[in-house]
Amino acid sequence: MTSERVITMFRRFFALVYDRINQPAETAGLSQERQKLLARASGETIEIGAGTGLNLAHYPATVTRLVLTEPDRHMAGRLRRRVAAIRPDAEVLDAAAAQLPFPDASFDTAVVTFVLCSVPDPDAALTEIARVLRPGGRLLFAEHVRSEDLALAARQDRRPLTYKLIGCHPNRATLDTITSSPLQVEEVRHGEVPKVPSIERPMIIGTARLAPAG
Ligand SMILES: C[S@@+](CC[C@H](N)C(=O)[O-])C[C@H]1O[C@@H](n2cnc3c(N)ncnc32)[C@H](O)[C@@H]1O
Repeated sequence: MTSERVITMFRRFFALVYDRINQPAETAGLSQERQKLLARASGETIEIGAGTGLNLAHYPATVTRLVLTEPDRHMAGRLRRRVAAIRPDAEVLDAAAAQLPFPDASFDTAVVTFVLCSVPDPDAALTEIARVLRPGGRLLFAEHVRSEDLALAARQDRRPLTYKLIGCHPNRATLDTITSSPLQVEEVRHGEVPKVPSIERPMIIGTARLAPAG
């Protein structure tokens, strides 16, 4: 069996079990963190790498248009089912973070949750997100990140096989990447994803803004 086929099979399996794997973290507080973060969304909103749609139920009425991108077809299948059930007006698109098929300044809000660990090039993704945001527009982010504890960071660097198969890099210094992007970090809180393996626990959650026009 080719390694590409193994990766495809594993990703299909990951999409199948994703909600079940996440359930303990969601019920132990992550779902509440999503809700608090997404309460800040307003206007035309794009979520990058929406997965199975765990954020969907949390978008407030201030969101006037909701676009969800998801390049993994197995995740996207589940996402479409959840959209049909709870947010039928949302648009689902197969698009990669670094190539969003929208003109400049199309959105008021962009959302990434646990995605910048997975995209091939986080700098390119953030540059593209900044491009599609309107001046003054906001990125809402929640990401698991590189630990400041050197021993844990060394374990994150080793990336167990399952993380390699799903394309997750738990060792990324994502706050530095956001800080050096065209966006300005407004608020950030350091916390922990509950009930997950230690290499996935260090978390940042916050907002970053594109400078207003003029
Ligand atoms: C750990 S899951 C997070 C899903 C969801 N955002 C959540 O909070 O549950 C990572 C997601 O990033 C997506 N992803 C991976 N590479 C991507 C890329 N280049 N552009 C956009 N999304 C990507 C994956 O398909 C997957 O759905």
